[in-house]
Amino acid sequence: MAKRIHVINGPNLNMLGSREAEIYGTVTLKQIADACAEHAKRLGLELEFHQTNSEGKLVDLIQAARGVADGVVLNAGAYTHTSVAVRDAIVAAGVPVVEVHLSNIFAREEFRHVSHISPVAAGLICGFGATGYILAINALAARPAN
Ligand code: DQA
Repeated sequence: MAKRIHVINGPNLNMLGSREAEIYGTVTLKQIADACAEHAKRLGLELEFHQTNSEGKLVDLIQAARGVADGVVLNAGAYTHTSVAVRDAIVAAGVPVVEVHLSNIFAREEFRHVSHISPVAAGLICGFGATGYILAINALAARPAN
């Protein structure tokens, strides 16, 4: 059976393309979604792509991956640095999560150096822009099935 991957994006990522282009580049979330879909198709994976600005909805989306997805690519945006609820949802879901950030969070403000997600993630990719999503999909595709 084809592996199933959910790509979940948090707050303000719907603004990519126009938001702080000097940090995040000019690629839009729609372009990232299209690139992920195309890549998943090439690898024979099933892929869902989501974005929400709300913390509760982010928790719902992570919970919904339980027993359904083989892996989650998660860019939780600013909730990365603040949300114990998102961290708990990852643990509760019991699905391997690859944390992704377009920017290198460790080369930015100090408050971005803390991630509540990294300690419970399978791995972290940051600083490679939209390519990070493709790298994360590759990482999950290469993992042995649970
Ligand atoms: C981000 C980094 C976060 O610190 C920030 O709040 C975002 C985007 C990134 O993809 O680089 O919204 O997750």
